[in-house]
Amino acid sequence: MAGFLKKLFGKERDEEMAQVKVAVIYYSSTGTNYEMAKWAEEGAKQAGAEVKLLRVPETAPEEAIEQNEAWKKHLEDTKGVTEVNLDDLEWADAYIFSVPTRFGNVPAQFKNFVDTTGGLWFEGKLINKVVSAMSSAMNSHGGQEATIKNLYTTMMHWGAIIAPPGYSDQSVFTAGGNPYGTSVTVDQDGNMQEDVKDAVMHQAKRTATVAQWVKAGQEG
Ligand SMILES: Cc1cc2nc3c(=O)[nH]c(=O)nc-3n(C[C@H](O)[C@H](O)[C@H](O)COP(=O)(O)O)c2cc1C
Repeated sequence: MAGFLKKLFGKERDEEMAQVKVAVIYYSSTGTNYEMAKWAEEGAKQAGAEVKLLRVPETAPEEAIEQNEAWKKHLEDTKGVTEVNLDDLEWADAYIFSVPTRFGNVPAQFKNFVDTTGGLWFEGKLINKVVSAMSSAMNSHGGQEATIKNLYTTMMHWGAIIAPPGYSDQSVFTAGGNPYGTSVTVDQDGNMQEDVKDAVMHQAKRTATVAQWVKAGQEG
């Protein structure tokens, strides 16, 4: 009977649930997606999750990075952020991705990492991971939605459970209203044009919450 009551009243049920693990995985050349990833980290932690903030390794040739001061500086500034590896994907119950738009798609650096996950995929270890994605671009219609949807296509191949924000909170509207995932526009100097912090934090909390539901469902 006590067990039944716990299931009926979500709060008590949450308390007995194992802590959900969230990996916030980002790639950023000039800092925008790093900032968004840090907000996501904050949001997921507020939702009670154990969180790892992880950087996708840089793979661009040094000559290219050298030519862009902002890129070079950001890479140097974030050397201390842990690089993502396959064990992190196995560890986490949920992934929140943040990547810049590159011609309407994910950056090669991110794709390069994704293409190392074949072994995990083959073993079925990516199935039922809860995922959500965010992006940035230089133009307000520069392909942010396409980037997020392209990323989600890969997630479908993984058998992941996509948790988009939809219009589940007022902050989504304030941030520009992208229901696929929070996205932001940056100017030439990398300044964000919309106030997206609350939307990012909401998306992260929602992802952690959905992951908790999925985890509880598998345990129950
Ligand atoms: C190779 C390349 C392709 C890009 N393609 C687009 C694009 O299709 N649309 C757009 O609006 N911005 C585009 N941008 C601008 C980036 O999206 C922008 O610099 C990025 O969102 C900033 O994120 P970051 O500071 O995390 O690197 C492109 C930038 C590069 C370097």
